Amino acid sequence: MPNTLGPDYLKNSVWKPHLFDGKVVFVTGGAGTICRVQTEALVLLGANAVILGRNPAKTEKAAKEIATLRPGAKVLGIGNCDVRNIENLTAAVDRTVKELGHIDFVIAGAAGNFLSPFTSLSSNAFRTVTEIDLIGAFNTAKATYDQLREHKGHIIFVSATLHYKGLPFQSHAAAAKAGIDSLTKTLAVELGPMGIQSNGIAPGPIEGTEGFDRLVPEDIRQRSLELIPLGRLGKTVEIADATVYLFSPAASYVTGQILVVDGAEWQSTSGAMNYYPHSVIATGSQDNKL
Ligand code: HXC
Repeated sequence: MPNTLGPDYLKNSVWKPHLFDGKVVFVTGGAGTICRVQTEALVLLGANAVILGRNPAKTEKAAKEIATLRPGAKVLGIGNCDVRNIENLTAAVDRTVKELGHIDFVIAGAAGNFLSPFTSLSSNAFRTVTEIDLIGAFNTAKATYDQLREHKGHIIFVSATLHYKGLPFQSHAAAAKAGIDSLTKTLAVELGPMGIQSNGIAPGPIEGTEGFDRLVPEDIRQRSLELIPLGRLGKTVEIADATVYLFSPAASYVTGQILVVDGAEWQSTSGAMNYYPHSVIATGSQDNKL
């Protein structure tokens, strides 16, 4: 069962229904867990969407399922779209404009990742991941730029916290995400004068996502909870809500920012004191020793 939002999102959310009526969102990696729930929230709030992926069957199935969330929603699934290939993206933009009219919002979310120590990572493996993540993000911005400019649009890059400090087995993905954050800020400055917003969302450990489940085995996951100040994994709905906030008029003056949604996980790995149990950190005492 995919980790999806479902129609209850509207019942339980603080957002106004119809917030995104008339908007169209273009999402790379839209059949993956995180980008899918981001798309679902926007569609439930009135947007139409196009999701892009390499696997046609998976992408088209996800598009059909998302479309069922709201009567009248139009959700296009475009498979065989590899973000490493800008021609794939420009063709997808042309088709979106033809079928859905225009593009207001873009989510650059396609990513590839696996665990590999530097010592066994090949040059081609490093290139493959940085091409999907970083060059794919650039290509997505480039291919959608005319639409973003015409509609004073907003692009959100899906980042991570992998590159904030040293993280083993992630030299490829961390380097790519560092580049994505740089691109986010540069585009905010270069495209701001045209009315385009450029922001990032950096999810922390989110339960039920393909990436987290595959990269973080159960025993490590349990131990990692000790370093998350909020004491739990994040939920996909929390990434959806961050996305809705950024695209909403409430964030109309926010650009060039990377919104970290991680329960303060990365902040809590600064040094030895972080290893005190949460109960001690919260009360400031351990048998009056502090
Ligand atoms: C070492 C590996 C490897 C592995 C592939 N390679 N998997 N090296 N360990 N596990 C190497 C290959 O040997 C090859 O190098 C090179 O990488 C290219 O591999 P291909 O299989 O030809 O590439 P491709 O088919 O394009 O597949 C890309 C991929 C794949 C990244 C390798 O995993 C993929 O398509 N992933 C998409 C889905 C995904 O990963 N989603 C998760 C994103 S999660 P050589 O030298 O042999 O030619 C995320 C957030 C994580 O990003 C945050 C968690 C906390």
